[in-house]
Amino acid sequence: MSNLSNMFKIAVVGGEGIGPEVTAQSQRVLDWFAARRKVPMVLRKAQYGRDPYLATGKVLPPETAEAMDEADAILWGATGGPETTEVPAAARKAGSLLSLRRKYDLYANLRPIVADPALADSAPLKAHVLDGVDFVIIRELTSGIYFGEPRGIETLADGQRRGFNTEQYTTNQIRRVARTAFELARTRKGRVCSVDKANVLETSVLWREEVTALHAAEFSDVELSHLYVDNAAMQIVREPSQFDVMVTGNIFGDILSDCAAMASGSLGMLPSASLGPVDRFGRRKALYEPVHGSAPDIAGKGVANPLGSILSVAMMLRLTLDRPDDAELLEKAVAAALAAGARTADIAEPGTARLSTHEMGDAVLNALEQVAGKQRESA
Ligand code: IPM
Ligand code: MG
Repeated sequence: MSNLSNMFKIAVVGGEGIGPEVTAQSQRVLDWFAARRKVPMVLRKAQYGRDPYLATGKVLPPETAEAMDEADAILWGATGGPETTEVPAAARKAGSLLSLRRKYDLYANLRPIVADPALADSAPLKAHVLDGVDFVIIRELTSGIYFGEPRGIETLADGQRRGFNTEQYTTNQIRRVARTAFELARTRKGRVCSVDKANVLETSVLWREEVTALHAAEFSDVELSHLYVDNAAMQIVREPSQFDVMVTGNIFGDILSDCAAMASGSLGMLPSASLGPVDRFGRRKALYEPVHGSAPDIAGKGVANPLGSILSVAMMLRLTLDRPDDAELLEKAVAAALAAGARTADIAEPGTARLSTHEMGDAVLNALEQVAGKQRESA
């Protein structure tokens, strides 16, 4: 019998749009690991978004906030959708994803970009460009222009309106995310590329100086390079296989990670982890979510690709649950399902069979049984 206090607490928050559909599949995967691999965790499901707003007047009801507060890890689906009069902007802002990232200080956003060879033919970039793509974008997630003050829209004396935001970074904010990048690079190919716009912006001048200083002081075994963000966007499309770990600020990371999604073959495949500071017990709060967002055009149809969410569970196994072997097992199972031809609409070639969201969940669970079985045989 597991002692409840030794169990990891996972909040499962499907949210809006396709979020609940894809999260239902990744929850099945989590349940499989709890049952078959005895991963010690308790799941607590909680509502977020339009539905609880209509029922309670809050997009983030108190039970959801509590489930997220007490969780070691949050499995997040998606938020957003067409602006409706159902949820006024002010109600949406209170409890927004941005404010949650800030509340839990989830400053390091890891977005791995891996091109699965099985998807080369349905990918928008040429197969030879996708060959060997395997890198991680680390986006600073709780500062920069998305949070800087002052911000607003004002009316000028001549009657024009002026919108303004503030890009800003402090030494510590830069150093802690750069540290995450250097530490991750040490477990991979040992290369960090820092992205900024130091030819124009003072925040970027500081960014480059601080990254360079931290590198010299503590990480000279890691290879460090710098790119301007415009060049980085071009390199990600031209030769994405050159990168190992890329680290950048909030807005550049937001834009570059969507761009890099195409270097993986499909946005629907991409997982992410958002990590907070390490506490005195060596734990760090984490939120895992697919990168794709709410996709309102296909929401409720049962056709969304759950693999971004399922691969986010693999990141959770590795980074929160401390189960690297199980993370690898899940990644192998996803690769096996794809190799066997399992395709949702977004990754299917024209005229070929498409699985529903739930059927893709089935395909991954079947592959898990098979891969785990083979591992037992060869053990
Ligand atoms: C992302 C999304 C969010 C962001 C939106 C939904 C606020 O684009 O996670 O990349 O800009 O961070
Ligand atoms: Mg984005």
